[in-house]
Amino acid sequence: MRMTSVQLWATVAGVFVIGFSIPIWSQVASPARGEAVRNPLTGDPKAVTQGAVLFRQECVFCHGVSARGGMRGPDLTTGSWSHGGSDAELAATISAGVPGTAMPPNKLTEEEIWQIIAYLRTLQQPVMPPTGDARRGETLFFGATRCSSCHIVNGRGGRVGPELSTVGSGRSRAYIIESIREPGRRLSENRAFGGDASLKYDTVTLVTADGSTVVGVPLNEDTFTVQVMDMNERVHSLEKKSLKSFRHENRSLMPAYDLNRLSDADLDDMVAFLQTLRAGSSAKKGGSHEDL
Ligand code: HEC
Ligand code: HEC
Repeated sequence: MRMTSVQLWATVAGVFVIGFSIPIWSQVASPARGEAVRNPLTGDPKAVTQGAVLFRQECVFCHGVSARGGMRGPDLTTGSWSHGGSDAELAATISAGVPGTAMPPNKLTEEEIWQIIAYLRTLQQPVMPPTGDARRGETLFFGATRCSSCHIVNGRGGRVGPELSTVGSGRSRAYIIESIREPGRRLSENRAFGGDASLKYDTVTLVTADGSTVVGVPLNEDTFTVQVMDMNERVHSLEKKSLKSFRHENRSLMPAYDLNRLSDADLDDMVAFLQTLRAGSSAKKGGSHEDL
């Protein structure tokens, strides 16, 4: 991956000087002076294009197409940041990585980093301050709406649906709302069990040899076998050829929370709560307005 970006960089930039980035860098990383450092390439169309190319080479693997979040890294378009959203803070995060997480340090040059940040700024959705009451949302989540019967948040809850402990940094507000109102629209990927990366959290219905029906989510599947977790979190490991029937339904096991189940006001509170659930949020904050 690095090789290609270096080659590409060499062809694009005549003016670039190696070594120039290091002394400046220590200033950028220091928060006090760092705040004052601005991306000199903000809005520069060439830099944005170049940043997009670099992003595809270096970051897409984890952060997904157009930085919309992927299997391994958070959505970078939500406009709210766990590790600070100023130019200098983003540069420091990209350069140094986030220790203790999958976010790696990079050997990108300072200019390359500014290009990537210029690109990320063009994707950033307007920040919508949470309007709801996060504490009330939390009460609903673990109480009346029973979300926690299927979802774990910070160690509490059921396992049928994906864990949501970092959904606030991993997903945009719009995505979260869609997931609640229309769960089947974009099915989440099932990565919790280290299974096939392309496995979706759809609903599987099967009938075993002895005639009992199992409805659940697939945990693992290959040509011959399938593992399904049913609504009671029982895992069934089955050979496909032993089954009377087996069907992927391509819908979510999560009920759609329409207006009858969840009013707009309740949804607002719920989303406010989910937006507080962020990667690494207990340790470091800054640049985010969403402190609980
Ligand atoms: C191997 C996977 C991986 C790669 C490659 C990767 N990231 Fe990350 N990135 C992560 C993870 C995981 C996090 C969340 C860290 C945490 O828990 O706070 C993260 C966090 C971030 C953050 C902080 C987000 C915030 O809310 O403050 C930024 C900015 C970022 N990455 C940018 C990039 C850029 C730019 C690249 C490419 C140069 C990149 N990342 C490459 C996995 C990756
Ligand atoms: C019967 C189990 C069940 C219940 C109850 C349930 N969910 Fe889900 N949820 C799932 C499953 C399964 C998925 C994955 C499939 C999909 O994308 O819809 C999911 C997906 C999600 C996602 C998308 C996560 C991601 O990163 O893609 C969010 C957000 C979510 N649920 C929130 C909620 C909230 C909020 C409630 C309560 C109002 C709730 N869920 C109730 C089973 C459930």
